[in-house]
Amino acid sequence: MNKKISAVYPGSFDPPTNGHLDIVNKSSCLFSKIIVAVTDNINKKYTFSLHKRVDLLQKSTKHLKNIRVVSFSGLLADYLGKINSFILIRGLRALSDFEYEFQLALMNRKLNKRIETIFLIPDQSYAFLSSSMVKEVAMLGGDTADFVPSCVEEELKKHFANLSKFHCEK
Ligand code: PNS
Repeated sequence: MNKKISAVYPGSFDPPTNGHLDIVNKSSCLFSKIIVAVTDNINKKYTFSLHKRVDLLQKSTKHLKNIRVVSFSGLLADYLGKINSFILIRGLRALSDFEYEFQLALMNRKLNKRIETIFLIPDQSYAFLSSSMVKEVAMLGGDTADFVPSCVEEELKKHFANLSKFHCEK
């Protein structure tokens, strides 16, 4: 572990999955402090509010002492400058993630040349997991217990209760 360096793990986390938490766990062993920075990607529509996503991440990471969960708005590069932390963590599940992540890393470096992005690969058992797929399973009444922490599972059930009831009744 590098005792002095903090890193930022940014994302939408809509909702946080066990794959995200695996990356948080791995990063927390590599850096002295991890800031999980939640934001709204302007190209996406969200199921859970920013406040709820922060809350779910705080609950799911409370056993880890060196994790802070925050929200930010605007450019990630500007946020990193504000907190004077220039290492970004991103998870890379498959080759299909690579093109977007490569663009994002280079754009962030162009916006601030001090920014370095480090890619971590989640455990193989999480390689297929995505927030959107988990939401689809939940929406159609499937069991998400293996995919998300229990607080997220509860929230998904609550959110999709009416919709799945409607689906079953049809
Ligand atoms: O979990 P996601 O949606 O893949 O995370 C993408 C995120 C939130 C990290 C990215 O969209 C982001 O950094 N948004 C903030 C605005 C920004 O700086 N965009 C990148 C330069 S165009």
